[in-house]
Amino acid sequence: MAKKIGVAMIGCGGIALANHLPGLALCPQAKVVALCDSNPATLDRAVQQSGVTTTFSDPFEAITHPEVDAVIIATPNVVHAPIAHAAIKAGKHVMSEKPIAMSFPEALGMLKAADQAGVRHLTAFTYRFVPAMRYMSHLVSKGHIGTPYHFRAQRFQDWGDRNLAWRQIKALAATGELGDMLSHRIDFAHLLMGNMTRLVARLRQYVMTRGGQPSDLDDWVSIIADFSSGATGVLESTKLATGRGEGGKSPDVCEVNGSEGTLVYQVGRPNEIQVGRKGGSGLEIVAVPEEFLKVPGSPRDVRSGDPVVTFRYDQNFEFIDAIANDRPASPSFADGARCQAVMDAAVRSDAEKKWVDVPVV
Ligand SMILES: NC(=O)c1ccc[n+]([C@@H]2O[C@H](COP(=O)([O-])OP(=O)(O)OC[C@H]3O[C@@H](n4cnc5c(N)ncnc54)[C@H](O)[C@@H]3O)[C@@H](O)[C@H]2O)c1
Repeated sequence: MAKKIGVAMIGCGGIALANHLPGLALCPQAKVVALCDSNPATLDRAVQQSGVTTTFSDPFEAITHPEVDAVIIATPNVVHAPIAHAAIKAGKHVMSEKPIAMSFPEALGMLKAADQAGVRHLTAFTYRFVPAMRYMSHLVSKGHIGTPYHFRAQRFQDWGDRNLAWRQIKALAATGELGDMLSHRIDFAHLLMGNMTRLVARLRQYVMTRGGQPSDLDDWVSIIADFSSGATGVLESTKLATGRGEGGKSPDVCEVNGSEGTLVYQVGRPNEIQVGRKGGSGLEIVAVPEEFLKVPGSPRDVRSGDPVVTFRYDQNFEFIDAIANDRPASPSFADGARCQAVMDAAVRSDAEKKWVDVPVV
């Protein structure tokens, strides 16, 4: 067997433990060779979970470790770009959590640097790996909904006024609900409908103090958009849908309507979609066909574990497989930058109270 791809996990908090370390553990071609976190207690927990004992508190040291071929960045947003640039400069492949950067220019810089260095790059738009989203995107691309009319995405959770740590601080996160939750749905929009060309947006902050600490970021965001395809989109995301729950159990819906049909996705039902047919009287449930239940070649057993959780592991397989086979990974930093262009446009639209053009990536 060829030498394993050595991976450094940088930032070992919630998402590293939930998604990346279990996902990498399933990849026969990958070996986690270093863990890095600035918080010693978090690092210790990751050591216990993974059994990996080479640890760093400084990401820039971890990157240069000779066994490291690739890095996964799962830190607060503010340090994604500097860590990615250091890794790219050292010739290492990079996966970055979303949003990949604090601004569109910063995201574009990451994309350009990675392409110039010839390293593989992936943006962790994890929900692209939901079987239902993979199947929906296939059906749209094959023309099953006819001429696309509308894109709709709703992410409603009840987070109340609890402390969100770095997520409630603009200097560390850049935006609140927009980057945290709506970024994934902006990516769905691009995947299903093509590029957004212009938009008008509103961001609102209702909760000024979270867990006794000040917050300076949006709790609710909404975007109305035009797409290059001629379709329109409406996207809404909130942390303040009181009583609606959170995580996989709270509303996370995406719908497309076209001249020939409608497709509906809900993350809580990852292995089925709802289909509306022209002339039909309502939606019918359609099981996702076997070939869409995982990324081709993924070592994951689709019958094992909770399907609301396990699709996430395909994201790590995609990154490792792209490196092993010297092919582009998807979604890439180009998708991350495209999303960031929309996010920056949304912030500007809200501040200037007007429609804003979205730059082409
Ligand atoms: N793709 C998804 O579905 C998804 C889900 C959750 C979070 N995320 C993203 O993942 C990233 C991390 O989120 P999280 O929920 O795991 O946050 P977290 O706070 O649980 O973990 C972040 C970790 O980074 C560490 N850290 C901070 N600065 C560091 C530095 N300079 N060097 C090394 N370590 C550092 C912290 O100590 C912490 O342990 C964010 O960008 C977030 O938007 C993505």
